[in-house]
Amino acid sequence: MCGIVAAVAQRNVQEILLEGLKRLEYRGYDSAGMTVFNDGVLTRHRALGKVAALTAQLDKAALPGFSGIAHTRWATHGKPSEANAHPHHSSDQVAVVHNGIIENYEAIKESLQRSGYAFSSETDTEVIAHLLSEKLADGLSLFDATQQIVNGLGGAYALGVMCAQEPGVVVGARQGSPLVVGVGINEAFLASDPLALLPVTDRFIYLEEGDLVELREQGAIRIVDRHGNDVERPIHTFEHGDGAASKGDYRHYMLKEIFEQPTVIEAALEGRLSAQSVLIESFGPDALALFQRTRHMHIIACGTSYHAGLVARYWLERYAGVPVQVEVASEYRYRHPVVPEGTLFVTLSQSGETADTLAALRFAKTLNYVGSLAICNVPGSSLVRESDMSLMTRAGPEIGVASTKAFTTQLVALMLLTLSVSKAKNQVEYLDIIAALRTLPEVCQRVLALDSQIEILSQAFAEKHHALFLGRGAHYPIALEGALKLKEISYIHAEAYPAGELKHGPLALVDSEMPVISVAPNDDLLEKLKSNLQEVRARGGKLFVFADESVGIDVQEDIRVLTLPHVHEALAPLLYTLPLQLLSYHVAVLKGTDVDQPRNLAKSVTVE
Ligand code: F6R
Repeated sequence: MCGIVAAVAQRNVQEILLEGLKRLEYRGYDSAGMTVFNDGVLTRHRALGKVAALTAQLDKAALPGFSGIAHTRWATHGKPSEANAHPHHSSDQVAVVHNGIIENYEAIKESLQRSGYAFSSETDTEVIAHLLSEKLADGLSLFDATQQIVNGLGGAYALGVMCAQEPGVVVGARQGSPLVVGVGINEAFLASDPLALLPVTDRFIYLEEGDLVELREQGAIRIVDRHGNDVERPIHTFEHGDGAASKGDYRHYMLKEIFEQPTVIEAALEGRLSAQSVLIESFGPDALALFQRTRHMHIIACGTSYHAGLVARYWLERYAGVPVQVEVASEYRYRHPVVPEGTLFVTLSQSGETADTLAALRFAKTLNYVGSLAICNVPGSSLVRESDMSLMTRAGPEIGVASTKAFTTQLVALMLLTLSVSKAKNQVEYLDIIAALRTLPEVCQRVLALDSQIEILSQAFAEKHHALFLGRGAHYPIALEGALKLKEISYIHAEAYPAGELKHGPLALVDSEMPVISVAPNDDLLEKLKSNLQEVRARGGKLFVFADESVGIDVQEDIRVLTLPHVHEALAPLLYTLPLQLLSYHVAVLKGTDVDQPRNLAKSVTVE
């Protein structure tokens, strides 16, 4: 999604803005631009493609200045092009960068055109620049003008705006898209994500919905809430350090993040298990009472987070005896869900800013749920702030667009939820699972050590156009996640099925050109899975099986088997995710795709 960086500093801001944009590249984008107050005028550079293209322009014509706004654009209204790239200007008097979608822009545009404003882009954003220009002409300050116009904007936005009349001022606004204020020493900044500003500060204010902020020289920051009242918001120190935002010795962020999983799984467990028990208080002081009242759960999420929810359904029903419904947020929010008495509403999100998930939470709050729980990776995010309870996954910043460590730490959090609900409702502790959780980081380490063998397997996929993933039980969602990873970063068409469903249709696709990937832990569905694999072999399909060391599937010409260390059956979905991530990664590297920023995708999906 689009990214915003803005600065009012005591030094040249060009490099701060450029570095910020590079750090936002992970969000996915197709063009970039920057406006700086330079020599008495607002001067702009924009470029189609990567931030490197903008950097090349600035190498030829620098943009020195003490205040500026910058943007990476992920096209929604209008194709990727220089003319549609932000910032958008109105008569070189006003400059605007915007994340989100202005839903009523067409009506506003028509009215502005009738007043004589000429448009130079196809974007929804340009209306904001002209609306501000109109208000400034009436004599309003930039802050007051912004406050007046945002009331008329429908949809979602995070904004950064400047005007030629007020050189050392940047105004920001937030409604539905994330925006943080970076607090420097006599300097102040804005960004879509704290990561963008880590070279200049580690202190951040997370703006609330409806907030307006004004940055002025000497680091002055004024925040006004949606009702127009001046407010003080707390300053948070960023805990993860700047190392999280660098690749280190790894070729890609995704690979680094895959290999971080033993460490972050350990972090996700830290302080949440006692010697013999799960600590329900990890979910907050009210968790025990709420879990005791919980008779059903609705789990809502998108994409990879949705797959984590699907795994959790198997766990919660089997180990905690709670019926669970799992649904993608974009469907849930437009249904008329029936909420049985005693239902807990659970959202899963890496970013905590996914527009559909957030909208689902807001909708759920109008229904008769007993409470809401967010399982999330970003502490100050909207989802966390707006939920009754939250549990942080502690994966640290995830830069690769394809989610890896965020997913496995969500699974850890969901297993802690399962154990907590079981204890709260049924007084049952699964000591064997608790013991297995403790050894999980070490077992994951052993799976990651198979990397070079998985890299060899990946060679069989580089020329393929399709792949099928199979799993049964809680490994069906793992097959879905494996297929999603392969699609996202290697652009190979992949589908996942519960293995028992194969014969009801998809078997027609199987021939010698179709690689079929299956996960085969040693669980009570193993024998049934083996029969399904025979169905594939009988049609000439090429099987790639990730199997428990004890299952005894023989390697043959048409079956390649990679054995994984044994793990408690309940935790196998976590472990079997790792080889599928590595497989997709190596296939993508062989195909030469942009692994960390796959085409058309964005990291934090803050538009509907
Ligand atoms: C896929 C991926 C996406 C996200 C989805 C939800 O690798 O990362 O499918 O899982 O966009 O994002 P969050 O978890 O931030 O709500």
